[in-house]
Amino acid sequence: MLETMTTSQKMTLAKDFLPINGTDHIELYVGNAKQAAHFYKTAFGFQSCAYSGPETGVKDRASYVLQQGKIRLVLTTPLKSEHPITAHIAKHGDGVKILALWVDDACKAYEETTSRGAKSYMEPTTLTDEHGEVKMSGIYTYGETVHLFVERKNYNGVFLPGYKEWKSSYAPESTGLLHVDHCVGNVGWNRMNPTIKWYEDVMGFVNILSFDDKQINTEYSALMSKVMSNGNGYVKFPINEPAEGKKKSQIEEYLDFYEGEGVQHIAVATNNIIDTVKALKSRGVEFLDAPPNAYYEDLIARVGKIDEDIAALQELGILVDCDEEGYLLQLFTKPVEDRPTLFFEIIQRKGAQSFGAGNFKALFESIEKEQAKRGNL
Ligand code: FE2
Repeated sequence: MLETMTTSQKMTLAKDFLPINGTDHIELYVGNAKQAAHFYKTAFGFQSCAYSGPETGVKDRASYVLQQGKIRLVLTTPLKSEHPITAHIAKHGDGVKILALWVDDACKAYEETTSRGAKSYMEPTTLTDEHGEVKMSGIYTYGETVHLFVERKNYNGVFLPGYKEWKSSYAPESTGLLHVDHCVGNVGWNRMNPTIKWYEDVMGFVNILSFDDKQINTEYSALMSKVMSNGNGYVKFPINEPAEGKKKSQIEEYLDFYEGEGVQHIAVATNNIIDTVKALKSRGVEFLDAPPNAYYEDLIARVGKIDEDIAALQELGILVDCDEEGYLLQLFTKPVEDRPTLFFEIIQRKGAQSFGAGNFKALFESIEKEQAKRGNL
């Protein structure tokens, strides 16, 4: 029965005890938030939004909020060595700590998930300032990563209580990034199925797609991937696990360098991937190498007719794949840190709600080339 359903039909099987409106924000712990903020503005076209730190009465850390479309990134740096975030950065390097979800009821989200076995990160808490109140709660997911539930219907401030508007005279143009499409987690050996079950049981998500190591393998290594989605499809969390191959899986390389499970990539949507990727490249964002020419030669045979000029896609190395409902275009950056950990994906969907195995394979072949350059294959 499941095999004959479209992705949209599968999403209707998600349980409805945890309604989610979308991604609220993504918080990264970084070694130097001031400089990282400059990078995300310059290279990706994010805009200055809000700030909290010593000047706003927060003495132990500084946080910069950046916005583009509906995407909000929070970059946080601790100010002293004894801060717990310092230990987090020493272990994992710069990376995603919090995938915050926008909900209508943060207390109920906490009760529904913790009563189903989630480990608490933050009990329901109300933050207030002159702009209203925000309720938040949080639970741990894989590794040290956290899902925060944010209820902001009674708030009209710039981000959260405690933050002030960050005005900056430096405002590079947007690159056309619109919203978070999905965030991918890498988990350890034999941890895929427990993690999938956790998203089903604790969050009410549904498994909309599975790729096994027979479908995603290269000459040297393999991995498995399963995509979890909430009911409206606004929140998708693919999960990867390494698989046995002749050489080290790139998921293992991530786990080695992140020193644990964590977020592998953040996918952000555009409605014109050619213009967006051109803009990002011109600002110094580094992308994975284009797939071999043969990839484009049999493109139409593989995915059917597409609106875009294939030569333009090929020049930029953009990947195209399809599912039963349409097609999608994707391109992946190189890691945005020196550790081969977090990277970004640029995605444009044209009907497709899920992902295709062909792009997965092309992606992992490109990553493997980079892995070999680093001497970690
Ligand atoms: Fe992705």
